Order: sequence, then C-alpha cells, then structure tokens
Amino acid sequence: MALFITGDTHGALCLDYGSPDGYLTRFNTANFSDQKNLTKDDCVIICGDFGGIWDTNRRSIDESRAEKYDLDWLENKPFTTLFVPGNHENYDRLCGIKDQELLNSWYYENMPSETKQRFRQGYPRQKRYGGNVRMIRPSVCMLETGVFRLNGYTCFVYGGAESHDTEGGILKLSDYPNKAQYKRAFEEKKRAGKSFRVKGLSWWEQEIPDSLTEQLAEKALEECGWNVDFVFTHDCPSGLLEMIGADQRSSRVNEFLQTVQERLTFRQWFFGHYHKNMEFMDQRFHLLYDAIIRIE
Ligand SMILES: [Fe+2]
Repeated sequence: MALFITGDTHGALCLDYGSPDGYLTRFNTANFSDQKNLTKDDCVIICGDFGGIWDTNRRSIDESRAEKYDLDWLENKPFTTLFVPGNHENYDRLCGIKDQELLNSWYYENMPSETKQRFRQGYPRQKRYGGNVRMIRPSVCMLETGVFRLNGYTCFVYGGAESHDTEGGILKLSDYPNKAQYKRAFEEKKRAGKSFRVKGLSWWEQEIPDSLTEQLAEKALEECGWNVDFVFTHDCPSGLLEMIGADQRSSRVNEFLQTVQERLTFRQWFFGHYHKNMEFMDQRFHLLYDAIIRIE
C-alpha cells in the first residue's frame, strides 16, 4: 500500500488559464505517472478544497451530469482518493444541510419533501480506516475529523479553514423574502466590486469547525496518546503563517491547530489552503498545492 498526497484541486476542471487546479488534470496519467503501479489499496490524499461536490440545485441534490461523469472518472482510477474537507466545499451536500431556515426559504420551496429529507443526510457516512468517512464513491471518500489508520500509520485529520475571499461580505438567501429582492441585493454587491459569497451557494459556515468538532479531535488524539505518524489538514498552525507569507489574521482554525502542534508528537504534517508548494522546519511541515508527493 502506498500513500500519496497533494494540495487543493478546486473541482474537476481548471477554470483559470495557467492554474494547476482540476483533479482531471492533476491525476491524468501524464501528470501522475506513478498511478500505473497502483491498486485500490493505495491512497491519494487531497489536503482540502477538493471541490468535486460544489453546485447547489434548488430542486435536487443529485449530482449534475458533469459532476457524475467526473467523479466516475476518479472512481475508475487505479487508486483510492481520500480528501480532507477544506473551506471551498459544499458542506450542505457533503454532510447534510443543517440550516433549517435556508431549507424552509423560498430558495428550496420547490424541492420535494423526500429530497429535502435526503438533503439533511448528505452522502452516506461509514466507518473506514478507523475513522468516519463520507462515501462519494466506493473509492472516493471525504475524511471527517479524527484519527485514521492508513498503510499501518496513525494519521490525524482536521479539515476546514476561514475563506479569504469574503471581504465584500456574505449574503444570506433566507434574509430575502423572494428571488427578486435577493437578486437586487446580489447585483448591488457585485457593483461594489469586492469579492463576496452566498451562504449555501458558494460559502458554508461549516468551513470553521465548531467546538464539538474541536472536542472530538482532542478526544481522538487523547486516545492515541497525542502521538501520530502523520497529520493531514487543510489549514496550518498559526505559528507558520509568517513563514508562508500569508497576510491574513490567524483564524480559529489556525489557533486550534497551534494548540494541537504544541502537544502532539508527529513525524510529518501536510496541509494545503495557501496554494503554494513549500517545506518548513527540516521537512516536518509540507504545504502542498499541485505537487503530488509519496509519503511512504
Ligand atoms: Fe483553496
């Protein structure tokens, strides 16, 4: 069994010219030739912002034709894909919508009640590799926060990060009684020229793990004596921000991971989010974007 790891893929396709985004390109045989010798026992881990489950449909939660085609392509690869959730993930579709106000709003008024029920559940949740996963396909899974056993190694997983592209604010669909008023507010935001997001369509509050998730993480680490082989996260401890050259303030996720780092014994820590490939502290920390590296 082999473990490979890479950074943010932001969906199946590269939307900006020259960007290394898109798992169809990242994992094609030319760019990832090592896959020729792999089997489904071998795993490729994405350190957050997988983005393969993204679009919201007002009437259905089923995958679009394009999503289905692309996810089937990934399923047909000769390896298993595991992703840590990032900040750019549709948490409502992945893990089940929790925002009852949004579900009751005009936006979802035409969604059949049976579909709403499925929407509350998200993708099937299962125990796998010693932790909880969301099954997107038999060999494409989202890793939830916790400790996993992969290739005989103990691995701590913690997703989430604060989005940086919300300087213009976050619109809430349920704040508007109908589509016309929402559209007006949306156009006003657009004219203001600052990047903004819409809750439930392009931004999800679950991007910042809540205190229950933090407690779960600490409990899982307690159970393995605060000693793991590898750490896979989307964001990083606050102490690394300056070395990365990140210009944003330290978030709740950074602060939490800093407390973890100070207590945890680990061999190597891998993370994404900052869209660079860098190594720190004698290769103990790896920031990944498009690089695909073999861990063991
Ligand atoms: Fe990203």
